[in-house]
Amino acid sequence: MTIPELIDVHAAWLPPEAFRAIGSRRVLVHADGPLAETVRDEVVHACGLYGGSVPHPVSDQVGDQQVDLVLALSSMAALPAVAEEVRGEALREFGPDACGAEGFVLACRDGVTVVLADEPAGLLYGLFQVVRLGESAFGSARPVERHRPATRRRMIDHWDNIDVHPVMGQVERGYAGGSIFWQNGALRGDLTRVRAYGRLLAACGVNAVAVNNVNVHAAEARLLTDRLGDVVAIADALRPYGIRVHLSVNFASPIALGGLPTADPLDESVREWWARTTERVYATIPDFGGYLVKADSEGQPGPFAYGRSHADGANMLADAAAPFGGVVHWRAFVYNHRQDWRDRSTDRARAAFDHFAPLDGRFRDNAILQVKHGPMDFQVREPLSPVIAALPATRLAVEFQVTQEYTGQQRHVCYLAPMWSETLGFRPWGDGGRTVADVVADGPAAGGAGDLVAVSNVGDDPFWTGHPLAQANLYAFGRLAWAPRTDPVAILDEWIDLTFVPSATGDPERLRRTLHEMMDESWTTYERYTAPLGVGFMVRPGHHYGPDVDGYEYTPWGTYHFADRDGVGVDRTRASGTGFTGQYPPPWSDVYESLTECPDELLLFFHHVPYGHVLHDGSTVVQHIYDTHFEGAERVAETRLRWEKLAGDGLVAPELHARVKERLDEQLRSAEEWRDQVNAYFFRKSGVPDAHGRRIH
Ligand code: GCU
Repeated sequence: MTIPELIDVHAAWLPPEAFRAIGSRRVLVHADGPLAETVRDEVVHACGLYGGSVPHPVSDQVGDQQVDLVLALSSMAALPAVAEEVRGEALREFGPDACGAEGFVLACRDGVTVVLADEPAGLLYGLFQVVRLGESAFGSARPVERHRPATRRRMIDHWDNIDVHPVMGQVERGYAGGSIFWQNGALRGDLTRVRAYGRLLAACGVNAVAVNNVNVHAAEARLLTDRLGDVVAIADALRPYGIRVHLSVNFASPIALGGLPTADPLDESVREWWARTTERVYATIPDFGGYLVKADSEGQPGPFAYGRSHADGANMLADAAAPFGGVVHWRAFVYNHRQDWRDRSTDRARAAFDHFAPLDGRFRDNAILQVKHGPMDFQVREPLSPVIAALPATRLAVEFQVTQEYTGQQRHVCYLAPMWSETLGFRPWGDGGRTVADVVADGPAAGGAGDLVAVSNVGDDPFWTGHPLAQANLYAFGRLAWAPRTDPVAILDEWIDLTFVPSATGDPERLRRTLHEMMDESWTTYERYTAPLGVGFMVRPGHHYGPDVDGYEYTPWGTYHFADRDGVGVDRTRASGTGFTGQYPPPWSDVYESLTECPDELLLFFHHVPYGHVLHDGSTVVQHIYDTHFEGAERVAETRLRWEKLAGDGLVAPELHARVKERLDEQLRSAEEWRDQVNAYFFRKSGVPDAHGRRIH
């Protein structure tokens, strides 16, 4: 597969023009190994397009070559003089292990830009950093900077199935067409798109991909055994871009695939089966990443059937993977999805903490507990999951959802990086304490760094993500996983500058401004016209698109708002509710418990209040609902107009413009529907008229 073939798929944030600055220079690639080959191929291709050159690093002449950019392993014997200087300085400043497995140092002096890495993966990431910097990487002096990822694994989970599900389609919660891996029940014959995907992921820092749905059905279960060849081929396609492949496995595989009578994690024959099966996986794919498991959750089998704990289950798989350096991502998304809505003592938000907090310290070092960032399920607004602060002796992965299941399904513009950034910067122990990003990055004392994971949003759609602007979410996830403190607005700038600006013929500043106006606050715009004040859901059951205020109110799923004629919200206090607030450490256990201190945006998540309850901004709850819903829909109308004005100016390709326009038409229709249903609902329940006399149906 050649680079032009990869770009042909749909270049997204790696159009050829983004390589112009590199491609017009003399570039020395001085490194060995397969990933170094990828770096070389990229550079050779760029130089072929823009007139640059890639001199051969003949070792005894390396020092004398006149080049503009050096990409080299710091272990290479002979480096150009300026790279030697940078190496010496990096050593003095950062010590011998300056870069680690994936980091790099970057500097520019005497007109030469230097990227040095200890391992080839670092060179790959360094190359993409130079791509991001464009012209500004060259010429003016730049002191030695070190770049290292904050997290060990920056992982994308695919919820792809081999077969097409009659209701969910092929990709569960997928809004961008079919799977990029499978078609018609078989692995795709041409994996160019997979390789192109790996290239895009590497450019934003992702290094791991779980290829199949966490709900592992019969066909996908066999990826572990007789369909392992599919995984081999995917791993081969992604490896050149430094991405390891992981597999979702079914906990009951020893029964379904191994013919054993049990899947009890403490049964010797079961443990042996996993050990043997895992050995074979690693014999076939030596750099295989590991397993991902959804157990005892929404109908998936798990250790509870045998009276065993989730630590028993996770450790069994961790033991099987340990000899090969593999890991197990064990999901904490465990709750009773068959609860009785009449039962007010069961609170789904409590479930993960209740199941997992008591198990702290009992997981193996290579078992990673994967926790959704909120206690419920990827709603537009949730508090932090208290699980993240509750297991100091356990390695954690925090899971985000890039695929917009509850945030507009890639028909609505909803740039999610501000939400993730807020989560990563949140301090579970209050001011002065560690952030979520610190918890993930540091890991427990014994286990090493943790991971950031996201459920992906791509498919075989020509624009990868259905809504072309939803590409920004995938890009931003990778960048935040690499450097969690990066400002989401700056990430959006990067994405715009890579994706659109290099090929735009008009005024790039206008394009940049318009996209920021459309996207910077699109998350809170979405929040404004959907479920209010943190209460969540109110979506159509099953597919989760569009408004249905009572859709889940009398169902077994544990997602209720309890609206009546007097008020709305879920009482999760210790004083009178489910006691969920007690799962947080102070100060949050008290802040959330207190009606006066609880942040407005989470009020209805923690409290049931009368419609006349006054928020911190002086508005009542019901007036806030009306105001935000009118405003949210208005903002969408403005967004749509902004985009229309970009038509025909050479700033974005016509097909892309048309696709976004079509999505914005739908977003506006949907936002107005949300506005009218939610407002009508609360007006009819409460009888309170809108203070501004606007039309409520
Ligand atoms: C959500 C989603 C499911 C998914 C589940 C999970 O509930 O609707 O489709 O399987 O999350 O994260 O496992």
